[in-house]
Amino acid sequence: MAKIYATMRSIASYVPKNCVSNTDFEKILDTSDEWITKRTGIKTRYFADNNEDASALGVKAAEVAIKRAGIQVSDIDLVICATLSPDYLGMPSNACLISSRLGIENKPSFDITTACSGFIYLLSIAKSFIESNVYKHILIVGAEKISSILDFSDRSTCVLFGDGAGAAVISATTNKNERIIDVNIGANGKYNDFLMTPRCLGSKLNFSNGFNVAQVDKTHSYLTMKGNETFKIAVKTLANDVKEILSKNNINIKDVSYFIPHQANLRIINAVGDMIEIEPSKVVITVHKYGNTSAASIPMAIDDIYKNGKLKKGDLLLLDAFGGGLTWGSSLLYFNGE
Ligand code: UT7
Repeated sequence: MAKIYATMRSIASYVPKNCVSNTDFEKILDTSDEWITKRTGIKTRYFADNNEDASALGVKAAEVAIKRAGIQVSDIDLVICATLSPDYLGMPSNACLISSRLGIENKPSFDITTACSGFIYLLSIAKSFIESNVYKHILIVGAEKISSILDFSDRSTCVLFGDGAGAAVISATTNKNERIIDVNIGANGKYNDFLMTPRCLGSKLNFSNGFNVAQVDKTHSYLTMKGNETFKIAVKTLANDVKEILSKNNINIKDVSYFIPHQANLRIINAVGDMIEIEPSKVVITVHKYGNTSAASIPMAIDDIYKNGKLKKGDLLLLDAFGGGLTWGSSLLYFNGE
């Protein structure tokens, strides 16, 4: 029997309507457009409406991804969603909510929690299921409503993030030239306190004196970050990860069509770009428009060049992400969308 490979058949994204500029933050915080632009490269980000949850954003991206893949909803064998801002903490999973809103029934659906590396982890899981011949078409979704877990009095975090979703259909193929070549994933829990939602409604909350509603206020779900420490480790890890996956697969950086890094900070992207010696015109940058959309950041960036007509079938993509956990991952793949 011919060897089965996994291939990225389509990409899609959804950006919510409300554009929030740096000047909007100047009105509520001691910050400036100048500081945010200089330190992060971010100019705008988009926030979802109150009635638009993370799964709703995911559904919008998923519908387009399925259409662009040229398959029917009923062809999907598995739905996996990466999110750090799920509609509900615990259950049901966003993947189940997305499946149901798409009309997918009786198909396995689950979420993963690997923060900003989510999309790379999803690729790794999808590739394994397909190459082991378990499934033929897998819908992967990175969907975030990070505005729902931001502390809008903390200027060092709230200006960095945005909402959005990205989705892709990963399918089986026997054509080696269409394949996801490799996916590298890693984690080091030693640095678990660098990026956290420390007071989320998890089992860490101690209700030994009985459940107290007053303890469960909004602050329980805020995101916190040790920015400086994260910055340094992010640059080193992202660059090493790329060098490793290229050398493991005997691929020269010059052969890569586009480098699509996680969009957290323009200074991180530029530092990594220099370290891996990629031609600057091949580096995809969307952080100025969308801010950091965590698990949605990489698929939104892939779709950005797809929508602009720059991404072609057969282009060799190098993806690289880093996030809370700490987690990281990279991937090399031939894009196979029409
Ligand atoms: O997606 C997961 C991965 N995430 C990342 O990799 C993010 C990594 N970290 C970063 O991108 C950067 O560390 C930040 C953008 C978060 C911060 O930039 P920085 O250059 O590391 O600034 P800093 O934290 O060292 O702060 C410098 C100064 C401080 O003031 P003092 O103590 O020097 O007086 C901050 O209070 O900038 C101040 N500051 C701000 N000033 C105006 C922090 N945030 C702001 C702000 N506006 N929004």
